[in-house]
Amino acid sequence: ARVAVLISGRGSNMAALLYAAKADNCPYEIVLVAANDPAAPGLALAAAEGIATFGYSHKGLKRAEFDSIIDAQLRAAGADYVALAGYMRLLSPEFVAGWENRMLNIHPSLLPKYKGLDTHQRAIDAGDSHAGCSVHVVTAELDDGPVLAQTPVAILPGDSADSLAARILIAEHQLYSRTLAEFVTREQQPEWMLNRVREIAL
Ligand code: GRF
Repeated sequence: ARVAVLISGRGSNMAALLYAAKADNCPYEIVLVAANDPAAPGLALAAAEGIATFGYSHKGLKRAEFDSIIDAQLRAAGADYVALAGYMRLLSPEFVAGWENRMLNIHPSLLPKYKGLDTHQRAIDAGDSHAGCSVHVVTAELDDGPVLAQTPVAILPGDSADSLAARILIAEHQLYSRTLAEFVTREQQPEWMLNRVREIAL
């Protein structure tokens, strides 16, 4: 399966997907890395690995306008799926609708807890025993779609948001490459995803 990855910055999750795709038995290949910032460091990494890249600033453009520019690139690259990886943009409903059940995101919390930003600090401040990361199907609501997989990560005494984030990033890289591979392998049957959500909800 052909996967396009959207990033905004360093792209460590994109790199994890890219390196996993080098394995012989990986069911997906990365066909494009696009960023809403031409200076995103992840673009240089992808280019050095021979992956097509597209960097374009969203500044001065309406949300739907920018999204349609990105969408045209995704379709020109022949992407079957989109993986958001540290992509710090809200998506227009039209864009999301065009990739229904074919777009995933990695979020650095145990959803449905801590949607949005500053997730690690919020978990620490709440006195939670664990924080973690989730891979979910992207819907029009921010960080709200069906959760496909999660990794809980224990919060250590004395953890700062940064030390916790560094550990969770390790879990993110493993979780995303494995979950994306599972996702593109199974037929994207809505009932399959429904069962998956039921499993997690039980
Ligand atoms: C990661 O914590 C990811 O969960 C969040 O953005 C952060 C940066 O990710 N979505 P990356 O290093 O750019 O992949």
